[in-house]
Amino acid sequence: MSTKGNRDFRPAFHYAPPVGWINDPNGLLYEDGTWHLFAQHNPDEAVWGPMHWRHATSTDLLHWQDHGVALAPDELGMIFSGSAIIDKGNTSGLGEGGDPMILMFTHHGEHEQQSIAYSNDRMHFTKYEGNPVIPNSDQRNFRDPKVFRKEQLNCWSVVLAAGDHADFYASNDFIHWRKTGDFGKTENKLGGVFECTDLFPLTAPDGKIVWVLIASMAQLAPFGSGRMQYFLGEFDGETFRETIPSDHPRILDGGFDDYAAVTFANTDRRLIVGWAASPGYAGTQPTNEFCCIMTYVRELSLVDTDTGLQLAFKPITPEFALEEVPAQPLPEDRPMFFVPTTEGALPGELFHIHVEADSIFTLTLSNEDGEALNISVSSEQKLVVDRTKSSNNHFSPMFDSGLFSVSSINRNNVGKMTLDVYFDKMIAESFLDDGTVINSTVVFPEKPYQKATLHGFGKLWIGKTKG
Ligand code: FRU
Repeated sequence: MSTKGNRDFRPAFHYAPPVGWINDPNGLLYEDGTWHLFAQHNPDEAVWGPMHWRHATSTDLLHWQDHGVALAPDELGMIFSGSAIIDKGNTSGLGEGGDPMILMFTHHGEHEQQSIAYSNDRMHFTKYEGNPVIPNSDQRNFRDPKVFRKEQLNCWSVVLAAGDHADFYASNDFIHWRKTGDFGKTENKLGGVFECTDLFPLTAPDGKIVWVLIASMAQLAPFGSGRMQYFLGEFDGETFRETIPSDHPRILDGGFDDYAAVTFANTDRRLIVGWAASPGYAGTQPTNEFCCIMTYVRELSLVDTDTGLQLAFKPITPEFALEEVPAQPLPEDRPMFFVPTTEGALPGELFHIHVEADSIFTLTLSNEDGEALNISVSSEQKLVVDRTKSSNNHFSPMFDSGLFSVSSINRNNVGKMTLDVYFDKMIAESFLDDGTVINSTVVFPEKPYQKATLHGFGKLWIGKTKG
């Protein structure tokens, strides 16, 4: 294994492979108290390479047990991204004495085609001998099948990324598929090719069901970062229609380091997890024997904001005990533009910061060597995460060039705001305004950050894990 850095950046509660490389989360599935997570994986090197699926499970979405490689490349190609489902009623006939778990993935060879594998013990996976089940010989980008079932419909549905749009397929038995529709050719606001699409229903605050279509955008932002876009509308079993359009692209996560996020199947909760990296520079991260981690899993909901209906995210984290940092008394003869500071020591490299601010502010995480990550709400109503001085940024010119991530906040005025930042070794995940604006950013400080400083009027809490 290569040596790319001089510090251990392995996080405590974010999934990372023991060795080798991971990218997209695949095959996310809940069954009988167990969460299954598979990942795009190169077992031999901590950089992208021949893609396998690695398998891990958890009972709490925080502690992950690794089960090694689940699927390896074969004569049809590498094993690209895909999903998993429990074939209730054994419609495929692949079950032995029960309902099989079915993995649906892209075989990436001369062409990208969709294939399946199945498991009756949830630990060993057999590729179906009639693969591919959705063949393809003319589309260059045709991948990442996400299988789901719409209630009241007596069939399986798949959404997959097909060039600059998403295609929909349906099947009664997992083996025979027919194309039913497509979406995005004109609605795609960011241009380029879709990847890792997902489609699922959520209940809006008015009680109506709204379908959410997520697409990761293969065309990278100038600094090498991936972006995800989402659309709100209806799915009739054949195709998706955007019935709640927006004049700006709806961006899932304003940070540099959240890509290919998809949701768990077979659970009433809508939980999403993303690859916490940027496709442009992920392979250069100074993390030694492993490369890349997943974000915290986040629970999704739909909320109304000043700028319309949108997704909100609530992370699943360990429990933190928050303690308020006492504020300094304000000096009596302070100048007009005086900015108070509140500062407290950090309890290691796993913590939660909570800020309640009365107007614009900056939260700084820093160490004695001057490495600092700044998270601000600016007067332009943006959440700005600035990692200019966060770490040794020189391991990648792309990482070094894209130093600010900026997202619009979904309100008409900056006023009272809350910010929650969850930090775990190499990742800061920020949730502003109850998770209606989020930002995932990786950092690699040479030394652990030691203190949190709030610049602005407001209150600061620092939390360490309970127990
Ligand atoms: C997204 C992606 C997918 C593909 C996989 C290959 O990061 O490009 O579209 O299936 O990664 O590793």
